[in-house]
Amino acid sequence: MIRMMMLTIFSGAVLMTILGATGATPQSGSTTKKSFGKTPDGQPVDLFVLTNRGGAEASITNYGGAVVSLKVPDRNGKLADVVLGYDTADGYVNDKSYFGALVGRYGNRIGHAQFMLDGKTYTLAKNNGENSLHGGIKGFNKAVWTAKILPIKDGQSLEFSYLSKDGEEGFPGNLRVTVIYTLTDTNSLKIVYSATTDKKTVVNLTSHSYFNLAGQGSGDILGHQLMIQADKFTPVDAALIPTGELRDVAGTPFDFRKPTAIGARIDQDEEQLKLGGGYDHNFVLRRSADIGESLAARVVEPTTGRVLEVWTTEPGVQFYTGNFLDGKTPGKGGVTYPRRTAFCLETQHYPDSPNQPKFPSVVLKPGERYHTITSYKFSVEK
Ligand code: BGC
Repeated sequence: MIRMMMLTIFSGAVLMTILGATGATPQSGSTTKKSFGKTPDGQPVDLFVLTNRGGAEASITNYGGAVVSLKVPDRNGKLADVVLGYDTADGYVNDKSYFGALVGRYGNRIGHAQFMLDGKTYTLAKNNGENSLHGGIKGFNKAVWTAKILPIKDGQSLEFSYLSKDGEEGFPGNLRVTVIYTLTDTNSLKIVYSATTDKKTVVNLTSHSYFNLAGQGSGDILGHQLMIQADKFTPVDAALIPTGELRDVAGTPFDFRKPTAIGARIDQDEEQLKLGGGYDHNFVLRRSADIGESLAARVVEPTTGRVLEVWTTEPGVQFYTGNFLDGKTPGKGGVTYPRRTAFCLETQHYPDSPNQPKFPSVVLKPGERYHTITSYKFSVEK
Protein backbone atom coordinates (compact mmCIF):
# COMPACT_ATOMS: atom_id res chain seq x y z
CA MET A 1 0.00 0.00 0.00
CA ILE A 2 1.29 3.40 -0.87
CA ARG A 3 1.35 5.63 2.12
CA MET A 4 0.82 9.32 1.80
CA MET A 5 2.04 11.80 4.30
CA MET A 6 0.60 15.27 4.45
CA LEU A 7 1.96 18.17 6.38
CA THR A 8 -0.54 20.89 6.97
CA ILE A 9 0.20 24.07 8.80
CA PHE A 10 -2.65 25.99 10.31
CA SER A 11 -2.66 29.05 12.48
CA GLY A 12 -4.82 29.27 15.60
CA ALA A 13 -5.24 26.69 18.32
CA VAL A 14 -4.07 23.79 16.19
CA LEU A 15 -0.88 24.95 14.54
CA MET A 16 0.41 21.84 12.97
CA THR A 17 -0.98 18.45 12.14
CA ILE A 18 1.01 15.64 10.69
CA LEU A 19 -1.21 13.04 9.18
CA GLY A 20 0.04 9.61 8.25
CA ALA A 21 -1.43 6.91 6.02
CA THR A 22 -4.85 7.36 4.57
CA GLY A 23 -6.33 10.52 6.00
CA ALA A 24 -7.39 12.52 8.99
CA THR A 25 -9.24 9.83 10.95
CA PRO A 26 -7.91 8.94 14.42
CA GLN A 27 -7.01 5.51 13.02
CA SER A 28 -4.29 7.13 10.93
CA GLY A 29 -2.56 8.72 13.89
CA SER A 30 -1.78 12.40 14.32
CA THR A 31 0.20 14.93 16.29
CA THR A 32 -1.27 18.33 17.04
CA LYS A 33 0.10 21.35 18.86
CA LYS A 34 -1.82 23.89 20.91
CA SER A 35 -1.16 26.56 23.49
CA PHE A 36 -0.80 25.37 27.10
CA GLY A 37 -0.31 28.80 28.69
CA LYS A 38 2.73 30.86 29.64
CA THR A 39 5.59 30.78 32.12
CA PRO A 40 5.61 33.52 34.81
CA ASP A 41 8.11 35.47 32.65
CA GLY A 42 5.79 35.31 29.65
CA GLN A 43 7.30 32.51 27.57
CA PRO A 44 4.64 30.61 25.64
CA VAL A 45 4.27 26.92 26.47
CA ASP A 46 2.76 24.31 24.16
CA LEU A 47 0.89 21.04 24.49
CA PHE A 48 1.44 18.32 21.90
CA VAL A 49 -1.23 15.68 21.52
CA LEU A 50 0.04 12.43 19.99
CA THR A 51 -2.67 10.00 18.88
CA ASN A 52 -1.78 6.58 17.53
CA ARG A 53 -3.67 4.43 15.01
CA GLY A 54 -5.58 2.64 17.77
CA GLY A 55 -6.73 5.89 19.36
CA ALA A 56 -4.36 5.86 22.37
CA GLU A 57 -3.23 9.36 23.18
CA ALA A 58 -0.25 11.01 24.89
CA SER A 59 -0.31 14.73 25.68
CA ILE A 60 3.11 16.18 26.36
CA THR A 61 4.13 19.75 27.14
CA ASN A 62 7.46 21.39 26.38
CA TYR A 63 7.35 22.88 29.90
CA GLY A 64 9.59 20.43 31.73
CA GLY A 65 9.01 17.97 28.89
CA ALA A 66 6.19 16.60 31.03
CA VAL A 67 3.75 13.87 30.04
CA VAL A 68 0.45 15.58 30.90
CA SER A 69 -1.95 12.76 30.08
CA LEU A 70 -1.77 9.24 28.72
CA LYS A 71 -4.99 7.60 27.57
CA VAL A 72 -4.86 3.85 27.03
CA PRO A 73 -7.56 1.17 26.71
CA ASP A 74 -8.76 -1.27 29.36
CA ARG A 75 -9.77 -4.87 28.60
CA ASN A 76 -13.04 -3.60 27.04
CA GLY A 77 -11.29 -1.01 24.90
CA LYS A 78 -12.34 1.87 27.17
CA LEU A 79 -9.75 4.64 27.35
CA ALA A 80 -8.70 6.21 30.66
CA ASP A 81 -6.01 8.69 31.53
CA VAL A 82 -3.48 6.72 33.60
CA VAL A 83 -1.13 9.49 34.76
CA LEU A 84 -1.42 12.29 37.30
CA GLY A 85 -1.00 15.86 36.10
CA TYR A 86 -2.39 19.39 35.75
CA ASP A 87 -4.73 21.08 33.28
CA THR A 88 -2.49 24.07 32.51
CA ALA A 89 1.16 25.13 32.41
CA ASP A 90 0.63 26.96 35.75
CA GLY A 91 0.20 23.63 37.50
CA TYR A 92 3.61 22.52 36.25
CA VAL A 93 5.22 25.86 37.13
CA ASN A 94 4.05 25.42 40.75
CA ASP A 95 4.49 21.63 40.91
CA LYS A 96 6.70 20.13 43.61
CA SER A 97 5.99 16.47 42.83
CA TYR A 98 7.60 16.27 39.35
CA PHE A 99 4.37 14.99 37.74
CA GLY A 100 5.29 13.44 34.39
CA ALA A 101 8.43 15.55 34.10
CA LEU A 102 11.76 14.99 32.45
CA VAL A 103 14.17 14.98 35.37
CA GLY A 104 17.81 16.10 35.18
CA ARG A 105 20.66 16.83 35.19
CA TYR A 106 20.73 14.26 37.97
CA GLY A 107 17.55 12.29 38.67
CA ASN A 108 17.19 11.32 42.33
CA ARG A 109 19.39 12.36 45.25
CA ILE A 110 23.01 13.41 45.60
CA GLY A 111 24.08 13.23 49.25
CA HIS A 112 25.09 16.48 50.96
CA ALA A 113 24.51 18.17 47.60
CA GLN A 114 28.10 17.70 46.56
CA PHE A 115 30.41 15.41 44.65
CA MET A 116 33.99 15.30 43.39
CA LEU A 117 35.32 14.93 39.87
CA ASP A 118 39.08 14.86 39.20
CA GLY A 119 39.83 16.22 42.68
CA LYS A 120 37.47 19.21 42.40
CA THR A 121 34.42 19.48 44.65
CA TYR A 122 31.19 20.61 43.01
CA THR A 123 28.56 22.09 45.30
CA LEU A 124 24.88 21.91 44.36
CA ALA A 125 21.82 23.60 45.83
CA LYS A 126 20.28 21.77 48.79
CA ASN A 127 16.63 21.34 47.84
CA ASN A 128 15.86 18.22 49.88
CA GLY A 129 17.14 18.65 53.43
CA GLU A 130 20.93 18.49 53.14
CA ASN A 131 20.72 16.85 49.73
CA SER A 132 20.20 17.69 46.10
CA LEU A 133 17.10 16.11 44.53
CA HIS A 134 16.18 15.78 40.84
CA GLY A 135 18.63 18.33 39.45
CA GLY A 136 18.25 21.10 42.02
CA ILE A 137 16.06 24.15 42.50
CA LYS A 138 15.50 24.69 38.78
CA GLY A 139 15.96 21.26 37.28
CA PHE A 140 15.10 20.20 33.74
CA ASN A 141 11.47 19.86 34.90
CA LYS A 142 11.28 23.67 35.10
CA ALA A 143 12.91 24.33 31.71
CA VAL A 144 11.08 25.27 28.52
CA TRP A 145 12.36 22.71 25.99
CA THR A 146 12.62 23.34 22.25
CA ALA A 147 10.16 21.03 20.53
CA LYS A 148 10.07 19.50 17.05
CA ILE A 149 7.47 17.12 15.63
CA LEU A 150 9.36 14.36 13.83
CA PRO A 151 8.22 12.54 10.69
CA ILE A 152 6.18 9.41 11.41
CA LYS A 153 8.29 6.25 11.62
CA ASP A 154 7.41 3.78 14.37
CA GLY A 155 4.61 6.01 15.62
CA GLN A 156 4.06 9.64 16.56
CA SER A 157 7.35 11.23 17.62
CA LEU A 158 8.29 14.44 19.32
CA GLU A 159 11.83 15.68 19.92
CA PHE A 160 12.72 17.96 22.83
CA SER A 161 16.09 19.61 23.20
CA TYR A 162 17.64 21.69 25.95
CA LEU A 163 21.04 23.22 26.60
CA SER A 164 21.95 23.05 30.27
CA LYS A 165 24.68 25.64 30.62
CA ASP A 166 28.03 25.10 32.30
CA GLY A 167 27.49 25.76 36.03
CA GLU A 168 23.70 25.45 35.92
CA GLU A 169 22.56 24.32 39.39
CA GLY A 170 26.27 23.77 40.14
CA PHE A 171 26.95 21.06 37.54
CA PRO A 172 30.02 21.39 35.28
CA GLY A 173 29.91 21.46 31.47
CA ASN A 174 27.52 22.66 28.80
CA LEU A 175 25.20 19.66 28.47
CA ARG A 176 23.21 19.35 25.24
CA VAL A 177 20.24 17.11 25.89
CA THR A 178 17.80 15.57 23.43
CA VAL A 179 14.78 13.50 24.39
CA ILE A 180 12.60 11.78 21.80
CA TYR A 181 9.16 10.62 22.83
CA THR A 182 7.41 8.14 20.52
CA LEU A 183 3.86 6.90 21.00
CA THR A 184 3.92 3.70 18.97
CA ASP A 185 0.93 2.07 17.31
CA THR A 186 1.36 -0.82 19.77
CA ASN A 187 0.59 1.49 22.74
CA SER A 188 4.14 1.98 23.93
CA LEU A 189 5.51 5.34 25.05
CA LYS A 190 9.18 5.10 24.16
CA ILE A 191 11.64 7.65 25.53
CA VAL A 192 15.12 7.98 24.07
CA TYR A 193 17.51 10.23 26.00
CA SER A 194 20.80 11.53 24.56
CA ALA A 195 23.35 14.05 25.83
CA THR A 196 26.83 15.36 25.14
CA THR A 197 29.06 17.62 27.22
CA ASP A 198 32.10 19.86 26.77
CA LYS A 199 33.45 19.17 30.30
CA LYS A 200 33.45 16.05 32.42
CA THR A 201 30.11 15.94 34.29
CA VAL A 202 27.54 13.61 35.81
CA VAL A 203 24.20 12.78 34.13
CA ASN A 204 21.21 10.69 35.18
CA LEU A 205 18.03 11.45 33.25
CA THR A 206 14.62 10.00 33.94
CA SER A 207 10.90 10.46 33.46
CA HIS A 208 8.68 10.99 36.46
CA SER A 209 5.17 9.86 35.51
CA TYR A 210 2.87 8.93 38.36
CA PHE A 211 0.72 6.02 37.17
CA ASN A 212 -2.66 4.80 38.27
CA LEU A 213 -3.76 2.12 35.80
CA ALA A 214 -7.38 2.30 36.97
CA GLY A 215 -7.37 5.96 35.89
CA GLN A 216 -6.02 9.11 37.52
CA GLY A 217 -8.10 10.26 40.47
CA SER A 218 -9.69 6.83 40.97
CA GLY A 219 -8.27 5.97 44.38
CA ASP A 220 -5.17 4.25 45.71
CA ILE A 221 -2.81 1.92 43.84
CA LEU A 222 -2.43 -0.64 46.62
CA GLY A 223 -4.33 -3.33 44.67
CA HIS A 224 -2.09 -3.10 41.59
CA GLN A 225 -0.02 -6.26 41.15
CA LEU A 226 3.68 -5.49 40.67
CA MET A 227 6.63 -7.53 39.48
CA ILE A 228 10.15 -6.04 39.50
CA GLN A 229 13.02 -7.96 37.92
CA ALA A 230 15.40 -7.30 40.79
CA ASP A 231 17.21 -9.60 43.21
CA LYS A 232 18.64 -6.65 45.14
CA PHE A 233 17.80 -3.12 46.15
CA THR A 234 19.79 -0.22 47.58
CA PRO A 235 18.79 0.41 51.22
CA VAL A 236 18.80 4.03 52.36
CA ASP A 237 19.51 6.12 55.43
CA ALA A 238 17.05 8.53 57.08
CA ALA A 239 17.64 11.11 54.32
CA LEU A 240 16.88 8.47 51.64
CA ILE A 241 20.54 8.34 50.54
CA PRO A 242 21.77 4.81 49.69
CA THR A 243 24.09 3.36 52.31
CA GLY A 244 26.14 1.71 49.54
CA GLU A 245 24.88 -1.79 50.33
CA LEU A 246 23.18 -3.90 47.66
CA ARG A 247 20.75 -5.94 49.76
CA ASP A 248 19.02 -9.16 48.71
CA VAL A 249 15.27 -8.72 48.35
CA ALA A 250 14.69 -12.35 49.39
CA GLY A 251 12.70 -12.56 52.62
CA THR A 252 11.94 -8.80 52.63
CA PRO A 253 8.91 -6.71 51.57
CA PHE A 254 11.08 -5.64 48.63
CA ASP A 255 10.78 -9.02 46.96
CA PHE A 256 8.61 -8.35 43.89
CA ARG A 257 10.16 -11.12 41.78
CA LYS A 258 6.70 -12.72 41.69
CA PRO A 259 3.66 -10.47 41.06
CA THR A 260 2.50 -9.11 44.43
CA ALA A 261 -0.04 -6.44 45.37
CA ILE A 262 1.74 -3.14 46.03
CA GLY A 263 -0.20 -2.81 49.28
CA ALA A 264 0.38 -6.36 50.55
CA ARG A 265 3.38 -5.45 52.72
CA ILE A 266 3.68 -1.65 52.42
CA ASP A 267 2.75 -0.97 56.07
CA GLN A 268 4.86 -3.72 57.60
CA ASP A 269 6.98 -2.82 60.57
CA GLU A 270 10.22 -2.84 58.58
CA GLU A 271 13.06 -0.34 58.86
CA GLN A 272 13.40 0.48 55.14
CA LEU A 273 9.65 0.89 54.59
CA LYS A 274 9.51 3.20 57.59
CA LEU A 275 12.36 5.34 56.26
CA GLY A 276 10.61 5.70 52.90
CA GLY A 277 7.10 6.10 54.33
CA GLY A 278 6.37 3.15 52.02
CA TYR A 279 8.33 2.23 48.92
CA ASP A 280 10.77 4.91 47.76
CA HIS A 281 13.75 2.78 46.79
CA ASN A 282 16.07 1.97 43.94
CA PHE A 283 15.96 -1.60 42.69
CA VAL A 284 19.02 -3.19 41.07
CA LEU A 285 17.72 -4.58 37.82
CA ARG A 286 18.57 -8.08 36.72
CA ARG A 287 19.82 -7.29 33.26
CA SER A 288 22.76 -7.80 31.00
CA ALA A 289 24.62 -4.53 30.45
CA ASP A 290 25.27 -4.87 26.75
CA ILE A 291 21.92 -5.73 25.30
CA GLY A 292 19.16 -3.25 24.47
CA GLU A 293 16.14 -2.69 26.65
CA SER A 294 15.29 -5.40 29.20
CA LEU A 295 12.07 -5.88 31.10
CA ALA A 296 12.39 -4.02 34.40
CA ALA A 297 8.88 -4.20 35.85
CA ARG A 298 5.34 -5.30 35.06
CA VAL A 299 2.21 -3.94 36.71
CA VAL A 300 -1.33 -5.29 36.36
CA GLU A 301 -4.46 -3.48 37.52
CA PRO A 302 -6.95 -6.32 38.14
CA THR A 303 -10.26 -4.44 37.84
CA THR A 304 -9.56 -2.89 34.40
CA GLY A 305 -7.05 -5.45 33.12
CA ARG A 306 -4.60 -2.70 32.16
CA VAL A 307 -0.98 -3.82 32.11
CA LEU A 308 2.14 -1.65 32.13
CA GLU A 309 5.54 -3.09 31.32
CA VAL A 310 8.65 -0.98 31.79
CA TRP A 311 11.60 -1.83 29.55
CA THR A 312 14.92 -0.05 29.85
CA THR A 313 18.63 0.05 29.15
CA GLU A 314 19.20 1.48 32.65
CA PRO A 315 20.63 -0.54 35.58
CA GLY A 316 18.09 0.65 38.17
CA VAL A 317 14.51 1.70 38.78
CA GLN A 318 13.14 3.87 41.60
CA PHE A 319 9.86 2.42 42.80
CA TYR A 320 7.99 5.19 44.59
CA THR A 321 4.45 4.81 45.91
CA GLY A 322 3.48 8.48 46.11
CA ASN A 323 4.03 8.56 49.87
CA PHE A 324 4.46 12.33 49.86
CA LEU A 325 1.26 13.08 47.92
CA ASP A 326 -1.11 14.84 50.29
CA GLY A 327 -4.29 15.44 48.31
CA LYS A 328 -3.92 19.21 48.60
CA THR A 329 -2.89 20.06 45.04
CA PRO A 330 -5.72 20.28 42.50
CA GLY A 331 -5.04 17.95 39.59
CA LYS A 332 -6.62 17.40 36.17
CA GLY A 333 -10.34 17.89 35.95
CA GLY A 334 -10.51 19.14 39.56
CA VAL A 335 -9.53 15.82 41.16
CA THR A 336 -7.00 15.70 44.01
CA TYR A 337 -4.29 13.16 44.57
CA PRO A 338 -4.10 11.79 48.12
CA ARG A 339 -1.23 9.66 49.42
CA ARG A 340 -0.46 6.49 47.47
CA THR A 341 -2.91 7.17 44.65
CA ALA A 342 -0.14 6.64 42.09
CA PHE A 343 3.19 4.90 41.70
CA CYS A 344 6.36 5.85 39.82
CA LEU A 345 8.85 3.56 38.13
CA GLU A 346 11.74 5.91 37.37
CA THR A 347 14.43 4.15 35.36
CA GLN A 348 17.84 5.42 36.36
CA HIS A 349 21.39 4.90 37.58
CA TYR A 350 21.40 4.44 41.34
CA PRO A 351 20.86 7.47 43.60
CA ASP A 352 24.00 9.22 44.86
CA SER A 353 26.19 7.39 42.33
CA PRO A 354 28.64 10.34 42.08
CA ASN A 355 29.60 9.59 45.71
CA GLN A 356 29.43 5.79 45.51
CA PRO A 357 32.48 4.37 43.73
CA LYS A 358 30.97 0.86 43.65
CA PHE A 359 27.81 1.92 41.82
CA PRO A 360 27.78 2.00 37.98
CA SER A 361 29.33 5.28 36.81
CA VAL A 362 27.26 8.32 35.84
CA VAL A 363 30.25 10.29 34.54
CA LEU A 364 29.98 11.69 31.02
CA LYS A 365 33.13 12.94 29.30
CA PRO A 366 33.57 15.21 26.29
CA GLY A 367 33.49 13.12 23.11
CA GLU A 368 31.14 10.54 24.68
CA ARG A 369 27.41 10.30 24.15
CA TYR A 370 24.92 9.57 26.91
CA HIS A 371 22.24 7.37 25.39
CA THR A 372 19.51 5.49 27.25
CA ILE A 373 16.11 4.12 26.27
CA THR A 374 13.02 3.40 28.36
CA SER A 375 9.66 2.18 27.08
CA TYR A 376 6.37 2.19 28.97
CA LYS A 377 4.39 -0.53 27.16
CA PHE A 378 0.65 -0.78 27.73
CA SER A 379 -1.52 -3.83 27.07
CA VAL A 380 -4.41 -5.68 28.73
CA GLU A 381 -5.02 -8.94 30.50
CA LYS A 382 -8.43 -10.61 30.27
C1 BGC B 1 11.73 10.37 45.05
C2 BGC B 1 10.81 10.74 46.18
C3 BGC B 1 10.31 12.13 45.92
C4 BGC B 1 9.62 12.16 44.59
C5 BGC B 1 9.11 13.53 44.23
C6 BGC B 1 10.97 10.43 43.79
O1 BGC B 1 11.82 10.14 42.73
O2 BGC B 1 12.30 9.11 45.25
O3 BGC B 1 11.48 10.68 47.41
O4 BGC B 1 9.45 12.56 46.92
O5 BGC B 1 10.50 11.73 43.61
O6 BGC B 1 10.10 14.44 44.37
